[in-house]
Amino acid sequence: MDYLDLYLIHWPMSAKPGPPIFPLKREDIMPMDLKGVWEAMEECQRLGLAKAIGVSNFPTKKIEELLKTAKIPPAVNQVELNPVWQQQKLLQFCAEKGIRVTAYSPLGGQTAGGANPVMESEVLKEIAKAKGKTVAQVSLRWIYEQGASMVVKSFNKERLKQNIEIFDWELTEEERIKISQIPQKKRVTVRDIISKEGTLESVDLSDIDCVEM
Ligand SMILES: NC(=O)c1ccc[n+]([C@@H]2O[C@H](COP(=O)([O-])OP(=O)(O)OC[C@H]3O[C@@H](n4cnc5c(N)ncnc54)[C@H](OP(=O)(O)O)[C@@H]3O)[C@@H](O)[C@H]2O)c1
Repeated sequence: MDYLDLYLIHWPMSAKPGPPIFPLKREDIMPMDLKGVWEAMEECQRLGLAKAIGVSNFPTKKIEELLKTAKIPPAVNQVELNPVWQQQKLLQFCAEKGIRVTAYSPLGGQTAGGANPVMESEVLKEIAKAKGKTVAQVSLRWIYEQGASMVVKSFNKERLKQNIEIFDWELTEEERIKISQIPQKKRVTVRDIISKEGTLESVDLSDIDCVEM
C-alpha cells in the first residue's frame, strides 16, 4: 500500500515493543507518550502516508489531553457503541469537537457462544418485529441516527446485504425513547486486554478506561 485512508491509535496505552500478545503482561504496560505518538501520526498525514488520522477507545479525558497539543485534531474516535452501550456523553463531546465517532461491535460483537445483549434484547426484538426488520438492522439504524459511522462485521453474504439496508426507513420517536431506556452494559474494557497476573505500577487504568456514561 502507498497510503492508508485512516490510521488510528488502537488504545490510549503503550506496551513494550514487540508483537502484542493478549492478554498483555502487566509489567509490559508503560505510560503513553501521547504528545509524541500524536506528533508522529501527524507526520504520517503530512507525508501522505495516511489520508486521515484518529484514535480508538479514547475517553473524553484522553481526547482533551490530546487536543491540548494536537496540530491536526483526530478525525475519528472508534469506540464500542450500540443500543446496549450508548455513549451519550462521548457522542456529544465528539460532536462538539468535530470528531466523527465510529461504532465497533455495533451488534454487540462476537460473543463466542455467550449471551449477546444486543441481539437478545427484548426491546430491539419487539421493535424489529413491528417494523418487519431484523434486530441487527434496528441496532445499526439506531447507531446511524446517532450521527455515527460503524464497522459491522459478517462473513455471511446475506447478512452483509441486510446490514446495509438501513438507509431508507427510520425509527419512530417512541422507538427511540424505548431504546434510550435499555439497561447499559459495556463488553470490552481495558482490563480485559491486560493479564490479571503480575503488578501494574506505571499506569492508572481508570485514566484510560472507557467506562463513562
Ligand atoms: N477498535 C477496537 O478496539 C475494536 C474492538 C473490537 C472490534 N473492533 C472492530 O469492529 C468490527 C466489528 O466488530 P465485532 O466483530 O466486534 O462486532 P459486530 O460487528 O457487532 O459483530 C459481529 C458478529 O455479528 C454477526 N452478525 C453480523 N451481521 C449480522 C446480522 N445481520 N444478523 C446476525 N448476526 C450478524 C457476525 O456473524 P457472521 O459472520 O456469522 O454474520 C459476527 O459474529 C471489526 O472490524 C473489529 O475489528 C475494533
